[in-house]
Amino acid sequence: MNDTISVALPKGRLGEKVYKLFDEIGYGCPEILEDSRKLIFENTENHVRYFWAKPSDVAIYVEHGAADVGVAGLDILLEQEPDIYELLDLGLGKCRMAVAGKKGALSQTDETLRVATKFPNIARRYYSEKSREIEIIKLNGSIELAPIVKLSDVIVDIVETGTTLRENKLEVLETICDISARLIVNKASYRFKTEQIEEMCAKLAQIVIRGGKG
Ligand code: PRP
Repeated sequence: MNDTISVALPKGRLGEKVYKLFDEIGYGCPEILEDSRKLIFENTENHVRYFWAKPSDVAIYVEHGAADVGVAGLDILLEQEPDIYELLDLGLGKCRMAVAGKKGALSQTDETLRVATKFPNIARRYYSEKSREIEIIKLNGSIELAPIVKLSDVIVDIVETGTTLRENKLEVLETICDISARLIVNKASYRFKTEQIEEMCAKLAQIVIRGGKG
């Protein structure tokens, strides 16, 4: 039986923090922290294999079973709605999903609201619950630019420190939800490797709680 657990990590700063959690609970693979362009790392002694994936692609690897488990932001999960199980809130990568724009941008309630975003599904669901008519303008980054140059009335985007909004004279108008990184698992992997995955999740849960998360 293949008893190696493959883990898709989000490439970047969050992924490095997440790897440190896995290292702490006994799934270390020190080569992963070396400065290189390699994307796959395996530690056969610990029965673990890591992939560095683009953060927005982690859930795709997990849903298709190319990785058994992965770590993805709740923003990505809400946007993509992948067919996976969410096991644990890791309490990292905390930020919020918000509607932002210039002060007063939401005051004209009778007109179609032009919403620029990387998260069209989240935006569509949010406004459909409010029965507000909107037009989505899908962008890929630098979303804050849109209301400044009048491409949109507001944006739906991630706010972490608030610096990007502040430096562009924009503000949070409504908070949609809190976001953090989640441990996710492929459904078939969970069925066939239940014990190993439960053990990994329980150890992670212990250090996440010790780290001050309730
Ligand atoms: C994200 C997000 C905001 C910014 C929020 O962008 O889309 O622009 O970070 O962070 P802050 O509140 O701490 O300023 P990212 O850096 O991922 O780049 P992007 O503009 O290419 O999406």
